[in-house]
Amino acid sequence: MVMESPFVFGQIVSGEGFINRTEELQRLMYNARSGVSTILISPRRWGKTSLVREMALRMESETNLVFCFLDLFAVQTEAAFYEAYAKALLKAFEHSWEGRLRLVKELLSGLVPLVSFKADPNADFSIKFKVEKPKDADEILDLGQKLALQRKKRLVVCLDEFQNIEQFDDPLAFQKRLRSHWQKHTEVSFVLYGSKRHTMQQLFAQSSHPFFRFGELILLEKISVDHWALFIQRSFEQSGRSAPAEEVRDLVERMERHTQYVQHFAHLALFHTPEGAPLTKSILDRAEEQLIQHQSAYFQSVFQQLSKTQIAVLRMLLDGLQSEYTSAANLKTYGLNSSATVIKALAALENKDVIDRLGAGVSFTDPVFALWLRVVLG
Ligand SMILES: Nc1ncnc2c1ncn2[C@@H]1O[C@H](COP(=O)(O)OP(=O)(O)OP(=O)(O)O)[C@@H](O)[C@H]1O
Ligand SMILES: [Mg+2]
Repeated sequence: MVMESPFVFGQIVSGEGFINRTEELQRLMYNARSGVSTILISPRRWGKTSLVREMALRMESETNLVFCFLDLFAVQTEAAFYEAYAKALLKAFEHSWEGRLRLVKELLSGLVPLVSFKADPNADFSIKFKVEKPKDADEILDLGQKLALQRKKRLVVCLDEFQNIEQFDDPLAFQKRLRSHWQKHTEVSFVLYGSKRHTMQQLFAQSSHPFFRFGELILLEKISVDHWALFIQRSFEQSGRSAPAEEVRDLVERMERHTQYVQHFAHLALFHTPEGAPLTKSILDRAEEQLIQHQSAYFQSVFQQLSKTQIAVLRMLLDGLQSEYTSAANLKTYGLNSSATVIKALAALENKDVIDRLGAGVSFTDPVFALWLRVVLG
């Protein structure tokens, strides 16, 4: 019999494969019910998208709530945002394209839609709006509230990769506009989430920004070793193998509890564990090597984009220097000119998403990149 892996990565997890996050779910659900907006921030692949989806799944029976999902990953301009936003809202309230078209006529009367339908009724419908006048944008931004009122529902708008709006032409003016509309919506709350902690925190935690204190800010944490251990041990047992506590802890810690990597690593480790046998250190070593190997081409390309100074700073980090980067002795050891160079390099590395800074602590965004780098730098 071919074994199937219980470990899922690279896609949204839900139900049985969704581990813990009980507290975060409770808070999100409480906020959704109360009409309070939530801002959810974490580095990449820690589980934001899965968490917000899980919240909506668990609230399926609460029929007074409507969830609208939009991923801003590929939305690059303000005009594209309005179009995508309108479409996502129409989709959330109407399943058929006839229904959606009716809503456009009823609620977006000022806009002339260009609608095209694919022959296949299940295929996505496409609507193009020409958002030319400021009034058009205003109508779309208020659409959520109008729909909620019309249907007597409470609406929860979930905007993924929200930090992407920083790439628009005039992000500040755009944010002001969003805020001025959305803060008047009595029936709508938002879940705004994204990676790039740095950008997200600027958007929401700086008093000069329009979204300052827009909602409750949650910094997603890592899943605890204990929760992982339970899941991994059970999964190994269900696959006819075993996973001793010490090896499981080792597995989780080698990945620094990075959500997606723990899944990926466990997946490889299970593959290398023979039926009826336990997980061992040497299996973990082998799986780790493979994990690094899988991504070496990608890591190589990341590495090539780094300056000499940035590499020296990463070396400091690998050596476990969590502070004191700028002490004279350290500067000398790592061949760095001045503390200003280090500070600049840290900022650049954060911008490139190579490191993550929380308070005074600095860590690699990608723990496997750190493992790879250790090998490369020797
Ligand atoms: N609660 C969870 N339990 C178990 N595994 C999880 C959980 N949440 C996420 N994962 C794992 O992490 C991976 C990434 O999850 P997800 O896409 O939700 O993260 P994300 O933070 O939205 O990532 P990105 O920054 O790329 O948008 C999943 O494919 C899965 O392997
Ligand atoms: Mg995501």
